[in-house]
Amino acid sequence: MISPKAFQSTLLAWYDRFGRKDLPWQRPRTPYRVWVSEIMLQQTQVRTVIPYFQKFMEAFPTLQALAEARLDLVLEHWAGLGYYARARNLHRAAKILMAEYGGEIPADLEALLRLPGIGRSTAGAILSLGFDQPAPILDGNVKRLWSRLHGLKERLDTASAERRLWALSVHYLPRERNADYTQALMDFGAKICTRTHPRCLECVLQDACLAHRSGWVAELPVARARQKPVKFSYWLLLRDEDGRIYLEQRPPVGIWAGLWAPPQWDSREALEAQCQNLSIRPETLTWLPAREHGFSHYLLCYTPALAQLVKPLPMLHDRPACWLKPKTSSQLALPAPVKRLLAELA
Ligand code: ADE
Repeated sequence: MISPKAFQSTLLAWYDRFGRKDLPWQRPRTPYRVWVSEIMLQQTQVRTVIPYFQKFMEAFPTLQALAEARLDLVLEHWAGLGYYARARNLHRAAKILMAEYGGEIPADLEALLRLPGIGRSTAGAILSLGFDQPAPILDGNVKRLWSRLHGLKERLDTASAERRLWALSVHYLPRERNADYTQALMDFGAKICTRTHPRCLECVLQDACLAHRSGWVAELPVARARQKPVKFSYWLLLRDEDGRIYLEQRPPVGIWAGLWAPPQWDSREALEAQCQNLSIRPETLTWLPAREHGFSHYLLCYTPALAQLVKPLPMLHDRPACWLKPKTSSQLALPAPVKRLLAELA
């Protein structure tokens, strides 16, 4: 894997060129402004937060002003941002800071964690962005980045995944430029390693990224808490000049026994390797969006790839096979997802 040093310098070099430097809480970047902005950003997008943050700072320019304001007024300034517990906690924390910390935000992890509304990642953001201290963060963006960089195929909402992800945040943490580094992580997750349509071609970490190297980017992180295990499957939709699709009969045991379906593999690489054998160049494949199909004991996540066949085809698997016009798909025993897919192509 990429070393922490290489990771930091690559990310910071990217940040110097492309990172955000004119967000309102960066000008000026004080602990108070960082704290308020981090609370606002906990469940809300940057775009939405900006005008609220600016009005909030006009109304409550200092910690003391916030602590002395009536809760009603604070809530009024929060109206529209949602999750009002955040505003109540912010106000309560301001009072605690006035009473117990001399009106200063403490540059201390334990003290921050004792304040209402501040969890470990927010505390890390306040320490690094507000005080330029080395402190790890782990928000949704960073979880996604680690899960892709390290190709973590497990669910992220378990205690063990959480521990592993925090360990990565600590592992990559620099000793210097801590504010820039934290902002860089956030910006990278917002601009490059996005949840949908990540910009892998522009990504300065693509060579180091296990998900990128193995074609798992779209599948990672495994998103929701799922009751059932997830199986991934990659379907080759071979289409001939007449628009017919190649189907094989499934084996007599297992899922969809005896039904007709496109050839399937359990990794993109395996599918692409098979394409090479058929003289179909992998870059000519059209990958369609992944879909899901629930079985009683697992969830199937399948991604179809469309290929135009130019030559006659040798049999792919040692199974009965046929070419089917998508329009006539009602004549064969087809699993529901295959039927839907063919209807889409028709
Ligand atoms: N999300 C949480 N904190 C952020 C920050 N400081 N900048 C941009 N997005 C964020």
